[in-house]
Amino acid sequence: MPARLFLSSGDLTADRRFEFARDLQLKGDLPAAADLLMQAIELAPDFTSAWFTLADIREQLGEHEAAVAAYQKAQTSDPGDRHGAGLRLMRLGAEPLAGMPQAYVQTLFDQYAPRFETSLVDDLGYRGPALLFKAVLSVRSAARKPAFFKRAIDLGCGTGLAAAAFAKEVDHFIGVDLSPRMIERARATGLYAELDVADMLQGLRARPDASADLILAADVMVYVHDMTPLLAEVARVLAPDGLFAFTVESHAGEGVVLGEGLRYAHGASRVWALIAASGLTLERLAPASARSEGGAQVPGLVVVAVKR
Ligand SMILES: C[S@@+](CC[C@H](N)C(=O)[O-])C[C@H]1O[C@@H](n2cnc3c(N)ncnc32)[C@H](O)[C@@H]1O
Repeated sequence: MPARLFLSSGDLTADRRFEFARDLQLKGDLPAAADLLMQAIELAPDFTSAWFTLADIREQLGEHEAAVAAYQKAQTSDPGDRHGAGLRLMRLGAEPLAGMPQAYVQTLFDQYAPRFETSLVDDLGYRGPALLFKAVLSVRSAARKPAFFKRAIDLGCGTGLAAAAFAKEVDHFIGVDLSPRMIERARATGLYAELDVADMLQGLRARPDASADLILAADVMVYVHDMTPLLAEVARVLAPDGLFAFTVESHAGEGVVLGEGLRYAHGASRVWALIAASGLTLERLAPASARSEGGAQVPGLVVVAVKR
């Protein structure tokens, strides 16, 4: 993942204290790092990066309440919550599970964009687009229909890996992504007829009824807490016989959980129920891991639903 985000306090001395504190943190001297961060915060009370790092250290030291208080400061001092303090609060059980801050996702992927493909494909063995390709081909072949799509929408298109997997099967690809830096990379592939920098739900809302034959979401539903509004838009935008194919991380229980990697994992029975409620027909819901982490396969699902 990208290097830790740094938001300057605007005070040179406070910023320097922060840098020393980070050095100490990386060397493992957590109490000394916390002391220096407190000094930085005294100089610049709204220093978001210092609050966030202090919270992280408090968490590592097992100081639950102090960690929660510092994450809350990091959250309120940056209304967009680019560090994702809200997600840490959810993980600590201090806030109910909710959606991801958009500014956090955008900042994360803007930072990640230059190294995204090397890191995900080479280091984590990412295969989300290949899983979707295989599943879509198999659903089309079982229905005795050609796997050719005039108009496709790639939700959370990133650098364009899903469009590359489906390039020969799609005439007109539209990509939607929150991160302008990821979109720049997608544009450079030349695979997309249109690209929107937008939240995928807003991107879909701007599309006419029955205007897509295929909608893809490769490794993106892991950033969606509640699939219901998105599934409703997908069902509206798909043309009859159109497919929605996505990968998602999963867990053995019910409902949605926020994993250690700060991505949501969805229970299979919940995905099944939400698709049924959206009016789409489930064609495939199979266990499949789209990537590894720490040498282990991350549990996941590959899902294909059709609009009847
Ligand atoms: C892990 S990457 C996957 C990219 C691409 N689909 C692939 O398979 O390589 C997730 C992408 O989803 C985008 N994303 C996450 N949440 C989003 C949202 N709500 N709306 C639009 N894009 C989103 C991120 O910016 C990022 O580019």
